[in-house]
Amino acid sequence: MTAALASVPVSLGDRSYDVLIGHGARRQLPDVLPPAAARAAIVTQAGIGLDVDPGVEHVVIEIGRGERAKSLATVEHICRELARAGISRSDVVVAVGGGMVTDVAGYAAASWHRGTAVLHVATTLLAQVDAAIGGKTGVNLPEGKNLVGAFWQPHAVICDLDALSTLPPEEWRSGYGEIAKYAFLGVDGLPGMPLEEQVRACVALKASVVAADEREGSKRMILNYGHTLAHALEAAGLAADAGTATLRHGEAVAVGLVFAARLAEALGRIGAGRVAEHRAVVSSFGLPATMPRGADADQLLAFMRRDKKAHGDLTFVLDGADGVESVPGVDPGVVRRILSEMIEEATS
Ligand code: GLY
Repeated sequence: MTAALASVPVSLGDRSYDVLIGHGARRQLPDVLPPAAARAAIVTQAGIGLDVDPGVEHVVIEIGRGERAKSLATVEHICRELARAGISRSDVVVAVGGGMVTDVAGYAAASWHRGTAVLHVATTLLAQVDAAIGGKTGVNLPEGKNLVGAFWQPHAVICDLDALSTLPPEEWRSGYGEIAKYAFLGVDGLPGMPLEEQVRACVALKASVVAADEREGSKRMILNYGHTLAHALEAAGLAADAGTATLRHGEAVAVGLVFAARLAEALGRIGAGRVAEHRAVVSSFGLPATMPRGADADQLLAFMRRDKKAHGDLTFVLDGADGVESVPGVDPGVVRRILSEMIEEATS
């Protein structure tokens, strides 16, 4: 039996969809398939451990794990399997997995027959509160992460909390890094909430931001709070979505939130009390607030300058009197000083 599910709408005109949240939510899959879909292609990874039944004839396409498999080669593999299975444009791709799977399968679906419906069954906390919602899809190139992609909204998103029962501790921490982010974007009381409510509240906040600015013209940038440092740590090999890097993506976001608060304080945008609040929220989720071993201020600064949202200068998403917003033209000297202070504190 499926317990009562929460349903959060993402309002995007004729591309609107619902995010279904709760234990056993995967059992709703047949009910939310596009009515015209006669067949489904389930894209997943070995060991995901969540069985889904779309209720129509289907094939299963397995893809590899980790950032290296988030590639155009994997998209080609998926599309060739779709061809072999005879998946038509009116059929559906069902992504079952974490953010890597929903990103790659979403991009393959966006390209297959110039656009085939995709439905995400998100199996990690990070995918449930962030990656699977909002239509960002894409893959990496050797030259950088997520450089090739498309906005392709899913037909529905299913967040089955049963999937989290086998989540390893580092994946929980990674998800909580994104949840901590939402605490500064307008979701109150997150640290003490039951899990289901945390997921629902974060999804609702993300849905409202995506509805206001689907293609990240302005407002959607706030979803990158804490991410400029996180992406620089990833580029430096000190954080990654999987593998042996010191930090997972969400843990790097947690460090990035504290860094962004300290930067905002140094720029006179917030006071010391608000920085302390950032530290308190991050630590309430058991997340790190210190730089990982091996961090180098000049290297991180160089990666920040190359961030694809930087438009040639140093742009950060920062807290301030009007809330969290995108701030261009930040003084590199101040950024370098805060980086150096945090590196110094981590090693002393
Ligand atoms: N994860 C940031 C966004 O979806 O815009």
